[in-house]
Amino acid sequence: MIDFGLAGKRAIISGAGYIPGRAGHGRHSALLLAEAGATVACIDIDQGRARDIVAEIQSQGGKAFSVLADMTKPDEVNRAVSDVVRELGGIDVCVDIIGKATWNAVEEFTDEQWDQAILNNLSQAFYLFRAVSRQMIAQQTGGSMVALASVDGIAASGFHVAYGAAKAGLISMAKTMADELGRFGIRVNTVAPGNVAAGNEDQNEDHWAVDTLNPLLAPRGSDVGKAVLFLSSDLAARITGQNLVVDGGATIKSLWGITPEVLPLFKDF
Ligand SMILES: NC(=O)c1ccc[n+]([C@@H]2O[C@H](COP(=O)([O-])OP(=O)(O)OC[C@H]3O[C@@H](n4cnc5c(N)ncnc54)[C@H](O)[C@@H]3O)[C@@H](O)[C@H]2O)c1
Repeated sequence: MIDFGLAGKRAIISGAGYIPGRAGHGRHSALLLAEAGATVACIDIDQGRARDIVAEIQSQGGKAFSVLADMTKPDEVNRAVSDVVRELGGIDVCVDIIGKATWNAVEEFTDEQWDQAILNNLSQAFYLFRAVSRQMIAQQTGGSMVALASVDGIAASGFHVAYGAAKAGLISMAKTMADELGRFGIRVNTVAPGNVAAGNEDQNEDHWAVDTLNPLLAPRGSDVGKAVLFLSSDLAARITGQNLVVDGGATIKSLWGITPEVLPLFKDF
């Protein structure tokens, strides 16, 4: 059996709830961390969703409790982190799921759309990781923090310019925090999903390359949860400041567009 080193660990997931029709990154990450033995503080802005994920974890024999907060507000972030510390005595793992795109053409993009995207995708993660790093430094036990970025922070982010800029900022923020906080044994990484959309959980396992975008297959919410689990765990003990792309190969796709069908045309070229 592989030991993830998470048994008895104290974890926070910010945005742990599941909204049907969305990717479920918080839900998958919370279930996997709990299955690996961590107690999971499930933070959400919505009480019903927070309670649902706690109930699902408990129904599978895991340990979890809910914390209600709007994590875009620094005061609520600090209060939520204090609540978790009061309940658990400390924090070993912190995962930030929250993020939302605002859609418009560059020339039509409003100040409000820009500010909302930066707040939802970058500032809130800074508020959370700042509060948790203070706690982890005080504990002197090290720890792991993981934020959900996006492939839109690596490539262009058509018609959601602020989202891509914020996710690129998140990837940069994780590197800087990893650099500064390494001396306290704190690791900071990001996971960048490709197009998970509504979860992609209904794919056939053996039905590869069904679309032109992904050389393999579009990633699932559960694949993203496994990447979060890995980076949160002792398996990644010497990995920090990294961005783990989970995109079915979409961002490494060749720019030449050569398919097996046209390959013969190129052989004597
Ligand atoms: N779905 C995709 O294809 C895709 C691709 C790349 C990156 N991502 C990233 O994944 C993350 C979202 O994953 P998802 O769609 O599974 O989550 P989601 O948007 O469904 O939200 C998960 C939970 O977060 C809670 N939440 C939202 N705002 C909050 C706030 N201010 N305070 C507290 N809780 C809040 C919601 O109530 C919900 O229960 C984002 O960071 C997004 O950028 C998704």
